[in-house]
Formats: sequence, C-alpha cells, structure tokens
Amino acid sequence: MKNSALSALGRRTAPPPISWLIKTALARPKLISLAAGFTDNATLPTEISRTLLNEMLRSPKTGQPALQYGTTAGENNLRQLTATHLQKLDGGHDRALSPDRVIITGGSQQLLYMTIEALCDEGDIVLVEDPTYFVFLGILQSRGIQARGVKLERDGIDLAHLEKVLERLKKSGELRHVKALYLVTYFQNPTGATSSLAKKSAALKLLKKFERDAGHPLYLLEDAAYRELSFGGDAAPPTALTLPGAKERVIYAGTYSKPFATGVRVGFGILPEPLYTAVLRIKGNHDFGTANLLQHLLARALATGLYDRHVAKVQKNYARKARVMRQAMAKHFPANVEIWKSGGGLYLWARLPKGISAGVKSKVFQTALKSNVLYVPGELCYADDLSRAKPDNELRISFGSASEENIRKGIARLGKVLRKFVR
Ligand SMILES: Cc1ncc(COP(=O)(O)O)c(C=O)c1O
Repeated sequence: MKNSALSALGRRTAPPPISWLIKTALARPKLISLAAGFTDNATLPTEISRTLLNEMLRSPKTGQPALQYGTTAGENNLRQLTATHLQKLDGGHDRALSPDRVIITGGSQQLLYMTIEALCDEGDIVLVEDPTYFVFLGILQSRGIQARGVKLERDGIDLAHLEKVLERLKKSGELRHVKALYLVTYFQNPTGATSSLAKKSAALKLLKKFERDAGHPLYLLEDAAYRELSFGGDAAPPTALTLPGAKERVIYAGTYSKPFATGVRVGFGILPEPLYTAVLRIKGNHDFGTANLLQHLLARALATGLYDRHVAKVQKNYARKARVMRQAMAKHFPANVEIWKSGGGLYLWARLPKGISAGVKSKVFQTALKSNVLYVPGELCYADDLSRAKPDNELRISFGSASEENIRKGIARLGKVLRKFVR
C-alpha cells in the first residue's frame, strides 16, 4: 500500500521513552530499575481501600451510585472535598475555591493532555522548564507543538532567562504562537526542585507583561503532581492559585495518584474560563467522566481522614528511602558528581562533570545496563529546542519503587560504573 491511513498526529507521534524504559527493565529480570516514576508497592493503601470499598458496596444505596456512570466534571462530593483539601494545603488561604472550578480527571496526565488540546494548535509554542517532565514533552511533540526551554534554578525558573526568551519571541514575531508556561512546581520531575512563590508570582507578572504583544492570554500551567510527597522539612510554598490575577491566568493540575494510589489514578484541574468549559467539553468527548467508583473511593478516603493519615505514612517512607539513596551515593559515587537537594518527590538528580555523557548512547548508560542498573538519562527531559545544546551529563534516579536493599545495591552498581568514567 502506498499511503498510510494514519492521521498526521498518528504518524508524527514518536514512541514515548517511558515504553522503552519499561520494556528494557522487563527484559532483564536481574535489573534494578531506578528509572520508573512508580510509587512504592509497600505503601499502597490496600487495607484502607478494602475497608472503604466494603463500606460503600455494603448497601445498594451507596453502592449503586458508585457503580453507575457519573458526570463529566466529576462527583460533586469529591469536587467539594478537593476544593477544601487544596485550601488546607495552601494554609487555609482565605480566597475560597469554588468546587465549580474543579474538574476531576483520569490522572493529572489527562488534564495536561486536554488542556494542551484546548489551548494549542499545531505550530504553537509552550515554554517549559529546562529540564522538565518528559511525558509532557511527548504530548507537545505528538501534537506538533514547539517546546522552548527556560533555564531551571534550584528554586524555580531563571526569571531573567524567561524574560529573554519572551523578548526573543516577540522580536521574531512568534509571541502570538505562545500559549502557556508549564512549570512542575513541587519536588520537580526530574530534578526535585521546588518553585518559590516569589518566582511563580514574578513569572505570572512577566507573562502578563507580554500579553499585549501576544494578542491573547498567556497562561501559567502549574503541575503540582508531587506536592504532597514532601519529606516533612520546610513547608511547601502555596500554589500560584493564591496569587493576584490567578483566577484568570493560572491552570492547576493536581493528582491523588502519587499520594494515594497510582492505580486509582484520579487527578483534577482548576482552570480559568473559558478554558474550563472547553476542557469540560473535550472531556465529554474523551470519556464523559472519570471512573465513578474510584472517585467515590477517594471521596470517602478524604472525608474520613484516612487519606491524610495515609499520606503522612507515605511521606515518611519516601523521606527514609531518599536518605538511604543519598547515603549510598555519598559512599559509592565519585565526589565530583553533583546531587541536587530535594525536600520531597520520588527522584534525585545527579550531574556529572561537563563533557561526560550519561545519555542513552553513552558508555555510562550502556555499562550501567550491562551492570543491571537502569536510570533515566537526563537528556530525555530536555525539549528539542535548537537555541541551545541539550545537556547530556545528568541522570534522574528514582527511589520510588525500589526496596531499600535494592536502592543500596543499585547505587553501588551505578557508583562502580561512574567511577570508571568520572575522574
Ligand atoms: C510531573 C508529572 N505530572 C503529571 C504526572 C501524571 O500523573 P497522574 O496522571 O498519575 O496524576 C506525572 C507522573 O509521573 C508527573 O511526573
């Protein structure tokens, strides 16, 4: 056959790196994967879920509504509880968040996808942190949207660089294609960095400043996927939702997936109009509502306080595992490998001295694979942005799913590999 029947999107969509990483891990049973962003099986809430599902399904009165289709925006009780939960996380911020602005989604991933569908046409531009969440880069690539990197510092994006990028886009006449700035603001994937509120505020102001030249609103898309996975140190800063003007310009992507259960996979979004309505309509076409049973389960977990108790346990577990990983790195990694500080999340970010590649084709990565240890090459987390060379000397190393024993063993193996190449 001469022509493919695939759509432009079907033809364009590149294989997601995540599929390849999972396949590689499964093909080597002895491999210790420090690559996946999976949560820890040991803390998944089997008992809580069993108790709550039993309660719910004990009577037709509570069981039947949960086993029926729900509404596109999500279960009302969960939307209300979500609004209250967010307010609590923001330290009881006085501006009440209306549940009418909440949409419940199939993980925050679905919210990210639909937001981009509602905002961007092929050829449009989204500004992203350099580096950023590689699955988000996949969404942009698939839809023919350009990603432009903004340098990332330990406390969020480099504001001077953001301004420079916006100025450059204005000069080249491309500003009208820019739609949003995407920030992973808490314990970022991949670096573990957390954005300060001051930086989020300054970024929002900068976007506002360039709106006149863009000819349309420029949104701040705040992805807070790891927000609740704090190690319990300094309090995580409030969201950009608490800033003046946020109601019109901030999109918030949240999730119950990482703190509660990745298999339950319920996320949510807070969106300004007219985006909220557009995303709701798109969701009507995607699936006209997230699995209702799972929403009822989460609503019960939140309402009974079992959710909060569970999250406290999860936080302690990751804090301990991160400590184990850091100690192992201190023991086994060459001293000139830089490890970023992080107060939560699932990852540590390691930077090798300049000139030593840890990329997919590098000797470091290939030798690590042969030694049965897998990490995510940092280069996968950088946008295809021709205005700068992609750094390839970094590694995203996860302590999420591996046991403490495997963290120690995996880091010892990786350390041995690094000592061969890093002097
Ligand atoms: C930064 C970030 N955002 C969003 C997600 C999506 O998570 P979920 O769809 O489970 O809410 C992930 C998952 O790894 C992530 O790392």
